[in-house]
Amino acid sequence: MTASKAIYLDPPAGLDRIVIGEATAAPPGQGEITVRVRASSLNYHDYAVVSGRRGLQDRRIPMADGAGDVTAVGAGVKEFSVGDRVVSTFFPTWLDGEPRVCDFATVPGDGVDGFARETVTLPASCFTPAPHGYSHAEAATLTTAGLTAWRALFVNGALKAGETVLVLGTGGVSVFALQFAKAAGARVIATSSSDEKLARLRELGADYLINYRKTAQWGETVREMTDGAGADHVIEVGGAATLDQSMTAARVGGHIAVIGSLGNPTGPITVTQLLRKHLRLTGLLVGSRQHQLDMVRALNATGIRPVIDRHFPLEAIADAFRYQASNQHIGKIVLDI
Ligand SMILES: NC(=O)c1ccc[n+]([C@@H]2O[C@H](COP(=O)([O-])OP(=O)(O)OC[C@H]3O[C@@H](n4cnc5c(N)ncnc54)[C@H](OP(=O)(O)O)[C@@H]3O)[C@@H](O)[C@H]2O)c1
Repeated sequence: MTASKAIYLDPPAGLDRIVIGEATAAPPGQGEITVRVRASSLNYHDYAVVSGRRGLQDRRIPMADGAGDVTAVGAGVKEFSVGDRVVSTFFPTWLDGEPRVCDFATVPGDGVDGFARETVTLPASCFTPAPHGYSHAEAATLTTAGLTAWRALFVNGALKAGETVLVLGTGGVSVFALQFAKAAGARVIATSSSDEKLARLRELGADYLINYRKTAQWGETVREMTDGAGADHVIEVGGAATLDQSMTAARVGGHIAVIGSLGNPTGPITVTQLLRKHLRLTGLLVGSRQHQLDMVRALNATGIRPVIDRHFPLEAIADAFRYQASNQHIGKIVLDI
């Protein structure tokens, strides 16, 4: 058994209930690997756990995302060797095929212990290789935000070159969606609450920009920007607060990937818009290990690098989440471990 540093949340959690302790990692058994975790990244879901909104029942090591080096390999492991750089998966039991999970019971950092720790031993299938040349910090952005954007566009959306993608806000999922969509030859319309953030999105390749604070009816603006047609795909992270505008923005027969609820999770929506426009709304929760393998292959081919706003050391995890809650970031916030 190896003991090393770990962060714990005392139930029911809260930024003032984070404690630094130790966790042990056993030598790897059949089919397992030991990983020296080097980085994690913050997601809105992790914030919900750490801030106590998920009503944590047991003492828990937070953080769904983890990346690091393989330090030991158990019997029967063929995919990884000592020294390989790996990145964790969101649903350790969903390896391939149709979704079989509809809750967070198996998700690291929520239903089971996560990656806010230095060393972990887990089944090798809980990881994929990291993209070539990625730092650990870059790899740690992929598990949740990267894979969600990937699945929304290429698995559920079947994005084609020349189509138009609308991304909302400048958080982790939306910035990945912008980068993936541009690499696939799509046009991107991006929204933000801030003109400074929009300028950064322009540098990242966004074709059209909308400040949603200044333009409340931004759905109509998207239609004007697309000669009345509307967007082929919407990366919908706002929830009930933005869904009506997203439906206005979408083209007839368009696809809305319903991903998050940064505003209200519930509220009135105009169902007639949905019917009249033959819209396809797809709810999704991250993706499978096979989706992640496909994404990593695409990242190797395209050379896309994640947008990292800021790094914090593991011990400053509470400050990192306070920074996330302030909504100043663009893209991802990383913990170095
Ligand atoms: N379904 C899934 O599998 C899945 C996976 C990952 C995340 N999510 C969800 O997706 C959402 C985004 O997650 P994230 O990790 O990317 O969050 P994040 O990095 O914390 O994103 C925060 C950013 O979103 C923008 N924003 C805030 N309120 C908004 C609103 N009402 N309308 C439009 N944009 C708004 C802000 O950008 P600006 O300042 O530029 O406006 C803010 O900086 C969350 O609800 C999260 O739970 C779902």
